[in-house]
Amino acid sequence: MARPPLRRALRGRVVDFTADPAEAGAGALRDHPDGLVIIEQGRIAAAGAASDLLARVKPGTRVDHYPGCLILPGLIDVHIHYPQTQVIASYGARLLEWLEKYTFVEEQRFAERGHAERVAAFFLDELRRNGTTTAAVYCTTHPESVDAFFQAAEARNMRTVAGKMMMDRNAPDALLDGGQRGYDQTKALIKRWHGRGRQGYAITPRFAVTSSDFQLEMTGALVREHPDCLMQTHLAENDLEIRAAAELFPWAASYTQIYDRYGLLGPRSIFGHCLHLADDEVDRLREAGAVAAFCPTSNLFIGSGLFDLARMDRAGVRVGLATDVGGGTSYSMLRTAAEAYKVLQLRGQNLDAARAFYMMTLGNARALALDDRIGSFTPGHEADVVVLDPAATPAMAHRMERAGDDLDLTLFVLMTMGDDRAVRQVYLMGEPAGA
Ligand code: GUN
Ligand code: ZN
Repeated sequence: MARPPLRRALRGRVVDFTADPAEAGAGALRDHPDGLVIIEQGRIAAAGAASDLLARVKPGTRVDHYPGCLILPGLIDVHIHYPQTQVIASYGARLLEWLEKYTFVEEQRFAERGHAERVAAFFLDELRRNGTTTAAVYCTTHPESVDAFFQAAEARNMRTVAGKMMMDRNAPDALLDGGQRGYDQTKALIKRWHGRGRQGYAITPRFAVTSSDFQLEMTGALVREHPDCLMQTHLAENDLEIRAAAELFPWAASYTQIYDRYGLLGPRSIFGHCLHLADDEVDRLREAGAVAAFCPTSNLFIGSGLFDLARMDRAGVRVGLATDVGGGTSYSMLRTAAEAYKVLQLRGQNLDAARAFYMMTLGNARALALDDRIGSFTPGHEADVVVLDPAATPAMAHRMERAGDDLDLTLFVLMTMGDDRAVRQVYLMGEPAGA
């Protein structure tokens, strides 16, 4: 039954971004300490100071009041694997061994549709519980895993981007989609899902190590044939992986060149990790306008390396922030930002709170080419919202006693100490979770 169009307003400290604070400075951030977000028919109607907007609130509007809380655009994760919810916390291996010993085993279970449905439901509920309202998601090579995922996202009215993994070598036979098959399956899935409601498709070759030249060539054809789809893969995460790629593609002068040759570098391409790149590879990513996904909990847990944000900034490479569950260890973008901060500390760099929250919201929306719909409180945008309580735990409340109304410190406490417990409410298209 169709619900009547609901008018809702959210009152609290309303914070969002109009630009990257690393480039635009403090003016990039909008802060309304007593703010209001007015939502009409699932979209942002207005956002600003309550004193300005209360007069615009129409009779019959429900006002959800969150004193002491921050109201932000829903958090966005640019790289995560839904089939790896039961891979998190797999002990003692680095990338290639971790894939073989744990990940490929788990991914084979997604041949069964019921399993994929059960995991997709858990995964999306867990994202939402953590304040993540949009993610770019890897499924398995089974087309059914993609159908199960998008159906679950549609049922929750969540905006997601996802794609069928493509692999035609160096993985168990049961996971390979060799020859024409990976192309045909991807094409059919794009037709079925791309642009349907809130769903978008990402063409998803796993990484160079598990694709032949032929498959990457077919991937390039898919990218050319579907220029409005995203492309996601992994790049230069681990030393042994880089060596394997060099052996498998002896003609390539670098790992990046493998993807480049097949036309996979562009402004809608997201490359997970990008830890061990030569200068010419970084330059090429910048020139192509491609995005590097910084996955700190994964890079630490799998022991892959320390992302160099300052180098990417200097070169002008776009960077997104991501959990990479299940190499990553937390669904929480707040935990992810905390670990990003620590990784950069080890490199003698910093990640200030404004930039971290920009990355989790507008920055990641831009990385996914979705900033015309989500990531900020721009009127007309989809009302995906997270309400964060900076005093959610006794330790946070205690720390916040010294913060007063300092927004920067409040955000920094949230990213350093916060997790799912700090998420007070999540709205998808203006509807609260569980409604
Ligand atoms: N490289 C290729 N596949 C994967 C994966 O599933 N996780 C991570 N972290 N790296 C990869
Ligand atoms: Zn990954």
